Amino acid sequence: MLQKFDSRNSDIKVWIKDRLYPRQEAKISVFDSAVQGGDAVWEGLRVYPEGIVCLDEHLNRLLASAKTLAFTDIPTKAEVMEAIDKTLKANGMSDDTHIRLTLTRGEKITSGMDPRLNQSGSCLIVLAEWKPLVYDNNSGIKVISSSQRRNGPQFLDSKIHHNNLLNNILAKIQANVAGKDAGLMLDERGFVAELNGSNLFALINGVVYTPFAHACLPGITRKTVMEICRNNGVACAEADLSLSELYNADGVFATGTMGELTPVVEIDGRVIAKDHPDLSHVLGLFKASIRNFCQPLDY
Ligand SMILES: Cc1ncc(COP(=O)(O)O)c(C=O)c1O
Repeated sequence: MLQKFDSRNSDIKVWIKDRLYPRQEAKISVFDSAVQGGDAVWEGLRVYPEGIVCLDEHLNRLLASAKTLAFTDIPTKAEVMEAIDKTLKANGMSDDTHIRLTLTRGEKITSGMDPRLNQSGSCLIVLAEWKPLVYDNNSGIKVISSSQRRNGPQFLDSKIHHNNLLNNILAKIQANVAGKDAGLMLDERGFVAELNGSNLFALINGVVYTPFAHACLPGITRKTVMEICRNNGVACAEADLSLSELYNADGVFATGTMGELTPVVEIDGRVIAKDHPDLSHVLGLFKASIRNFCQPLDY
């Protein structure tokens, strides 16, 4: 799956630090920490007319990631919401929109790793684009397991949503070379962690399983799916899952803000059914209730 350029995004306005810029002028300094060391945190948000899906949780995760990385001058939630609001209004966007929200450690006085070189505060970027769901959620996606492991807290805690997901990018490159849509990453013990850019679920004998969040991003769509299951009497649990269990599952699906819920129809050449009633039930429940999770920009 390769996203295409959407001409509606040719002249969008992008928020950087304290104001909006036309797309062509929306640039950050070569001294910015994101350029120097991938030293930034981010969120992906989806906009519906009813509001932004799980806005508060996304903002909490952004600010928590920034705190873990000891950013100083972290904007308040109200300040971030105001920047998002101004960006959406400037672009006339209220649906079919995805926002890439990035907070970098900011500009350095000279190149170098040391955060003490960052003396002009953090830099918030609000990049809102016209972007419908990125996967074809009817036909599903094909994936391969990657030799690249997803890291756990022993190395770099996967709970930090940072801009340094190079191991995930390497897994995606392996999938590209194999002609598949995504790379399936294992944790350091060999259990399933997640796809390179989304979380994974497997339906086995009427139970919806997802890997523990030890070595994957604790995705907000993942949490929403678990909540929807529990609210609708569908058994749902976190578990250590092996590749063999996924190959033989009644259904497998990926979750993320970019694509919402996407059936996985092939793993390492093994066909996974996408028509099991339990899978259709969960996908249907999500579709019917996701807009109830939208929150307005209230600052
Ligand atoms: C590595 C990774 N896993 C999973 C996800 C899905 O997370 P969410 O449901 O919060 O969008 C993302 C999205 O940013 C991601 O980057």
